Amino acid sequence: MVKVTVIGSSSMDLVVTSGIRPGVGETVLGDSFKTVPGGKGANQAVAASRLGADVTMIGCVGEDQYGEVIISNLIQNGVCTDYVKAVTGVESGTAHIILAEQDNSIIVIKGANDYVTPTYVQQALKVIIDSDIVIVQQEIPEETVEYVCEVCEVNGVPLLLNPAPARSLKKEVVEKATYLTPNEHEVAILFMGASQSEMLQQYPNKLFITEGEKGVRYFNGKEEVLVATFPVQVIDTTGAGDTFNAAFAVALAEGKEYTQALKFANRAASLSVTKFGAQGGMPTRQEVEACLNK
Ligand code: RIB
Repeated sequence: MVKVTVIGSSSMDLVVTSGIRPGVGETVLGDSFKTVPGGKGANQAVAASRLGADVTMIGCVGEDQYGEVIISNLIQNGVCTDYVKAVTGVESGTAHIILAEQDNSIIVIKGANDYVTPTYVQQALKVIIDSDIVIVQQEIPEETVEYVCEVCEVNGVPLLLNPAPARSLKKEVVEKATYLTPNEHEVAILFMGASQSEMLQQYPNKLFITEGEKGVRYFNGKEEVLVATFPVQVIDTTGAGDTFNAAFAVALAEGKEYTQALKFANRAASLSVTKFGAQGGMPTRQEVEACLNK
């Protein structure tokens, strides 16, 4: 069982479904409202655990009801929460999601996720160093992402940096990460001015650009490779990227070569979009393997 440590956000997703997305200044009648656990970090932790990894989550929640639900959901999914702290006087992170016209729009209020500071993460240094791979995203403070990159590099721990949501990164942070997994929008912000092909060639076997339903593109040192996704009936795309990142990290930690790891991750992500909620469709290891073996 590979050891995966996820350093990142955990939130409650407040999801409204609607036939149409309201425009600016417009009011529409929606169809439903549901509250489900989410947050990119927690989603990735749950996905990796369902895929058979030994997962520790490092994060913060508020001392509120959402925080309790978030922690018990992680525990139910087999994630170690020894380093998920409830912060007094702060609200848990929330994500306000509109599901309409076959896609989502999300506003994240970070809340307690801003308390995932370098000093806090340092308390879990031993867990980080003992990991087969670490995953970090960008719903926590920028200095924490920088700290995680530094710690992983110094200790030779592979780090998958999922630069979502988009923000620019210092060049040294990009250099220190082992793997970078932006989508097309995020890669444009990361490497402003450069073409996608130039960037892929600059970072062979390191930069993996997710292109939605087309697949994932990387440069293997000789040529660009596009590893295709699997066509499915889409119910909810929320959490597909998180499932992809977790599955890719698990597969890499298990020693799969890049194309095979991407195929495994694409299969897991495609299954995740067939059910409602960020974590609702995240598959188990058996489900992914059964589909791959068909
Ligand atoms: O990646 C999907 C996640 O992004 C949602 O669960 C929501 O919490 C937002 O952070």
